[in-house]
Amino acid sequence: MYALPSNLQHVAIIMDGNGRWAQQRQLPRLEGHRQGSLVAEKIVKYAAQRDIPYITLYAFSTENWSRSAEEIRGIFALLGFFIDTKIKSLAQYNIKVQVCGAINKLSVDLQKKLEQVVQKTQHNTGTVVNLAINYGGKQDIQQACLALQQQGVVWEHENDIEPFLFTKNIPAVDILLRTGGHYRLSNFLLWQSAYAELFFLSVLWPDFTQKHLDAVIMEFQQRVRNYGGVST
Ligand code: IPE
Ligand code: IPE
Ligand code: MG
Repeated sequence: MYALPSNLQHVAIIMDGNGRWAQQRQLPRLEGHRQGSLVAEKIVKYAAQRDIPYITLYAFSTENWSRSAEEIRGIFALLGFFIDTKIKSLAQYNIKVQVCGAINKLSVDLQKKLEQVVQKTQHNTGTVVNLAINYGGKQDIQQACLALQQQGVVWEHENDIEPFLFTKNIPAVDILLRTGGHYRLSNFLLWQSAYAELFFLSVLWPDFTQKHLDAVIMEFQQRVRNYGGVST
C-alpha cells in the first residue's frame, strides 16, 4: 500500500451517476441510489483504513428538492437506513461522523438519527466522515454571513468567517472528486474548494471502487500546488 501524501487532509466527493447507472439497466433510479449507498459504505471504510483525515460525501444538494417526491423520499429513506445499519457498525473503524447542510429541513426522524450518530461517534479519533445533506455552497456562505451579523461579530479576515461555515473544524478541500462525467461543482463546498485539486471521472458512482480513489490520490501526489506562487 502506498503512503498517503502528507498534504492530503480532506477528500470531498460528488457522488454522481446513480440515476444513469440504473437507467442503463432498465432499473428504477432508486436502485442506483441503493447501489450507490453500498459504494459509499465501502469508500468510507477504505478512507478509514487509509487514515484519510476528512472525507465529505455529497448526499443531497439544496437543488435536489426539484426531483420527484418519490425519488426524494427514496433517497432519504436510504440515508436513514445507511445511518442506522451501516454507519453505526462502522464504529470499529473509529470514524467520527459530522453533518453539514440545512438539517433542520429534514424529517424529525432523520434529524434524530443524524444527531445520534454524531453524538455517538464524537469522541472517535479516526477519519471524520462529513455527510453533506441538504447542502448548498451558496447557502453555506449566506447562513455564515447571517450568523456573523446576528452575533454582532466584527469580521475583517476570511479566517473570521470560516468558523461560521457548516464545515467549521474541517480543513479546506484538497481533493474534489466528481464521478459521473459532468464537469461542474453543482453548488458543492464553493468556499472550501478555493484551492482544491479537481478530478472529474467518467465512472458512474455505483461503479466507483477504491482503485479509482487510489488512482486519484496518486495523481494528486504528482500535482504541484502553487497557491498563487511560482513553483520551484
Ligand atoms: C447523484 O446521482 C446522487 C444524488 C443526487 C442524490 P444522480 O441521481 O444525480 O444520478 P444521475 O446524474 O441522474 O445519473
Ligand atoms: C450533485 O449531483 C448532487 C449530489 C451528488 C448530491 P446532481 O446530479 O444533483 O448535479 P446536477 O444537477 O447534474 O448539476
Ligand atoms: Mg446527477
